[in-house]
Amino acid sequence: MNHLLSIEDLDRAAIERIVEQAARFAEVSDREIKKVPALRGRMVLNLFYESSTRTRSSFELAAKRLSADVVNFVSSGSSVEKGESLKDTVLTLSAHKPDAIVIRTPWAGAAELVSGWTNAAIVNAGDGKHEHPTQALLDVYTLHRRLGSLDGVSIWIVGDVAHSRVARSNILAFQRMGAKVTVAGPPTLIPRGIEALGCDVRFTLEELADADVVYALRMQHERMNEAWVPSLREYAACFQVNARRLSPRQLLMHPGPVNRGVELSGEVVDSPQALITAQVEAGVVVRMAVLYELLSGSRVFRPVPEPQLA
Ligand code: NCD
Repeated sequence: MNHLLSIEDLDRAAIERIVEQAARFAEVSDREIKKVPALRGRMVLNLFYESSTRTRSSFELAAKRLSADVVNFVSSGSSVEKGESLKDTVLTLSAHKPDAIVIRTPWAGAAELVSGWTNAAIVNAGDGKHEHPTQALLDVYTLHRRLGSLDGVSIWIVGDVAHSRVARSNILAFQRMGAKVTVAGPPTLIPRGIEALGCDVRFTLEELADADVVYALRMQHERMNEAWVPSLREYAACFQVNARRLSPRQLLMHPGPVNRGVELSGEVVDSPQALITAQVEAGVVVRMAVLYELLSGSRVFRPVPEPQLA
């Protein structure tokens, strides 16, 4: 594996390999000294053009636990504010010779573009509403720990599927692992033709009891440029996952950050059936496994054009 741009690049065996490696790293995270020398002397650049709490902190921790050097770049406060383009920023920072670039941007396809501009291994940490593959991997890991196999497990992904990169990556990853995926939400928030990915579609939560796992999504206000739902109150009335709709046998997941009182009620967030904190914990070990997979072996380096800065 040269880059991690999309779940489409991973078959079931590759996902299983990452999950198994993550489980080995979980043991490291339980030690008093939470570090292994696996990536000593390697450099990981975190390049974030969008806000992030979980993803950025866990990539940083993951790289540090593998003894890599980490440079964190956030677009605010950088020369991006002076008009520097993504390409020039990548070419400039590539002069520091990173072995991996972890990139989050609001633009679909940006991670793939960047992979053509640098020798570093690229990890897509979210590209607009396209994909967020490490989120899907950490969710598979979390469920695997809890349930063993995902074969035949019914997973409902509920809410703003249309603007969610998590939904796309998770539909692909859960199905690859043998789960049966249903997406549910108001018609304005379910992309037309999504069935082509192999999932079922529901426009109400009437059959939510069929789910073994309910995976709620955040309403992505920042990606909405018109009214997609009449009001958040009306959305919550029809689609909020709350104690009335969730049965105690069902597991609850959410990628975070949660809008309490919108897609989830506070009581289900704090209930024992919520795996939300376990998902965050899984983020570190799964990202360790991804960085290890990309950087520990021999990578095939392709020649990259000389930087041409204006
Ligand atoms: C998600 C994201 O940014 O794509 N958050 C995350 O990485 N855990 C989901 C979201 O913002 O709703």
